[in-house]
Amino acid sequence: MEQSGPASSASEAQAAEALRAGKLVILPTETVYGLAADAGNAEAVAAIFEAKGRPRFNPLISHVPDAAEAETIAIFDARARALAEVFWPGPLTIVAPVRDRDRVCDLARAGLDSVAVRVPGHARARAVIAAAGCPVVAPSANRSGRPSPTTFADAVEETGFAVQAAVDGGPCPVGVESTVVSVLDGRVALLRPGSVTREEIEAVVGPLESGGEGHRSPGRLTVHYAPDAPVRIEVLEPREGELLLGFGPGIGDPRWSLSPTGDLREAAANLFRRFREADRAGASAIAVSPIPDAGLGEAINDRLRRAAGFVG
Ligand code: TXA
Ligand code: MG
Repeated sequence: MEQSGPASSASEAQAAEALRAGKLVILPTETVYGLAADAGNAEAVAAIFEAKGRPRFNPLISHVPDAAEAETIAIFDARARALAEVFWPGPLTIVAPVRDRDRVCDLARAGLDSVAVRVPGHARARAVIAAAGCPVVAPSANRSGRPSPTTFADAVEETGFAVQAAVDGGPCPVGVESTVVSVLDGRVALLRPGSVTREEIEAVVGPLESGGEGHRSPGRLTVHYAPDAPVRIEVLEPREGELLLGFGPGIGDPRWSLSPTGDLREAAANLFRRFREADRAGASAIAVSPIPDAGLGEAINDRLRRAAGFVG
């Protein structure tokens, strides 16, 4: 008998067909695996919130195959357009005023007048989205509050029960979620640090606003990205019984290191995977070495602070 269901990888065409039929799909991207649905189908979008246990006030990102499609659902000013030109396809999400309230339904936007949009850098993701022919919402494929899945197996384990098709795109090369910036009323603000760094964005649009009203990301829950074991961060000396996730040469067991050479890209790619491995290994507590806060380190430290339960 031919094997079917989410345990085996679906083709891009099968995934697109499932999306068009209002079903959920596990979608690989360069950042983390997503749990995808047609952004215009309110019932399908509701099924995402239910499968993840996600609060409905937290809006979703709409994924499109290219910048021209993005501008059919969002209104871009010159700065949004410049960001799209430089960073797409890739791990940047732009929040801008919504243009099409039908193809991105109210629930997908949590009722906001803005929409978050991104063109993923993963070729299989773009192929599925282009074949589906609709904007595709895809939050990370974890259940709410848990670490985002960065492998096909982890994604299927988290939310495979809810999908009709799951596409295997290999391990996610980036490993942390996209950078989210808002471009609203002529102001650009960083809502979530990610693998496109603050410095890279400022090189294109100039200095960023520091948060502020109207520029908040409703989804920045306090405890997020957390493994089952409690997490302690910026640890120089682990306590008895703590599993140390090191960073840099000679720190802790190299098999558990985020990056034995002290490479931020490698650490980002390993972060959520190590959390899951630590849980699987039965770790009762996790300690993490200090990570420099510059560049990609800002995104890693953001996820670590939330995993440790600190207000962001
Ligand atoms: O890398 C990623 O972005 C992954 C992959 C699958 O594409 N997706 C992802 O989605 O991380 P999610 O739902 O886990 O995170 C979306 C973030 C949340 O913090 C949410 O609050 C914010 O984007 N967001 C979405 N729409 C927004 C809006 N209109 N205004 C402000 N923030 C928004
Ligand atoms: Mg998420």
